[in-house]
Amino acid sequence: MKTVSPFRDLGEGRPEVEVLLNGAPLRLPEGMNLAAALLAAGVRSLRRTPVSGAERAPYCMMGACFDCLVEIGGVTRQACMLNVEAGMEITRPQEEITHVDG
Ligand code: FES
Repeated sequence: MKTVSPFRDLGEGRPEVEVLLNGAPLRLPEGMNLAAALLAAGVRSLRRTPVSGAERAPYCMMGACFDCLVEIGGVTRQACMLNVEAGMEITRPQEEITHVDG
């Protein structure tokens, strides 16, 4: 049985603005939560864990898990704590993969 989603699409009806994701243009709803907008645009991974290199994506959406880290203007930020603004230059954080021996 199909049910109606209990969630309202907050991006619906908003004008889209262009941002850059790893240098590639992407159109997102202006003012929408950045992590939600990236997920809705099909972006499935924002960073890798420093130890295993496993890909991570937004999880808690409330600033607790830090799985939504991105760099904006060279500063590492939590995407779930930001809203989409025109001209944002978003990159994945520096990926330093460290392997633990033993
Ligand atoms: S999704 Fe958990 S801190 Fe952003």
